[in-house]
Amino acid sequence: MTAPSSDKVFSGSVPQIYDRLMVPMIFAPYARDLAQRIKGHRPHDLLEIAAGTGAVTTVLAAELPDTHITATDLNEPMLAQARTHLAGKSNITWQQADALSLPFADASFDVVACQFGAMFFPDRIKGYAEVRRVLRPGGRFLFNVWDRIEENDFADVMQQTMHQVFASDPPQFMARTPHGYHDAARVRGDLTAAGFRDITIEMVTHRSPAASAQDAAIAYCQGTPMRGEIEARGTPGLEATTQRVAEALARRFGNGPIDGKIQALVISAA
Ligand SMILES: C[S@@+](CC[C@H](N)C(=O)[O-])C[C@H]1O[C@@H](n2cnc3c(N)ncnc32)[C@H](O)[C@@H]1O
Repeated sequence: MTAPSSDKVFSGSVPQIYDRLMVPMIFAPYARDLAQRIKGHRPHDLLEIAAGTGAVTTVLAAELPDTHITATDLNEPMLAQARTHLAGKSNITWQQADALSLPFADASFDVVACQFGAMFFPDRIKGYAEVRRVLRPGGRFLFNVWDRIEENDFADVMQQTMHQVFASDPPQFMARTPHGYHDAARVRGDLTAAGFRDITIEMVTHRSPAASAQDAAIAYCQGTPMRGEIEARGTPGLEATTQRVAEALARRFGNGPIDGKIQALVISAA
């Protein structure tokens, strides 16, 4: 299935809602995990691709004060949001960059990190080959990708609700892109085709907390490219659709603070 180009657009009010609601709910647990793994490699120069609003960058900047971090993303509005809470960190350089065409010289970095970005690359072998090109000999690529949507509770309930609200043409962004690249054999094959060896792939499960079903619904429907897909369908509209998702989440997980299972593959390659 080829993803529409709208899947990679994180702009408008998406970066702010993503940062406020999505990051603490599903990205922060994996940011801590990835940063711990990176710390063990003691990088001098680290490149982060698809850094978004800085979920991993924030942890790395605190944990690795002596590492020079180059944080990049395709969408400048995501980096602008990241800078609102990371401005003044002298060990971070921000730069807009497409992961498929990195504007860096060969052998520039000891570690390349990418949290939940590879699923968005239109050509993953090309993206991985770019990572390999900018890594120094002996360098490491550490990244993660979501497991199938059925293993990720809130996303699964949200996707089922889309099928109920828009029976003939449900928005599929979450299933198609963030949860569309979960086959470990395929990931390993793409890395191998790009020249990587010594590949380890680990399944890692966490809990995702949200202050309420309403917050989780706003996060998915309004803080991701789902927003554009829902709006493009006209009726019942963004607010009513968000409300339907909030009701479905509350029915399954209850009122008040909720939490659900999240699951992802964490990959290390040299
Ligand atoms: C799910 S977000 C993850 C952001 C961040 N790493 C985090 O953990 O919150 C995916 C990110 O991939 C970025 N992206 C999409 N296509 C990209 C590309 N070709 N090159 C670089 N970044 C890309 C998007 O702008 C978005 O910020």
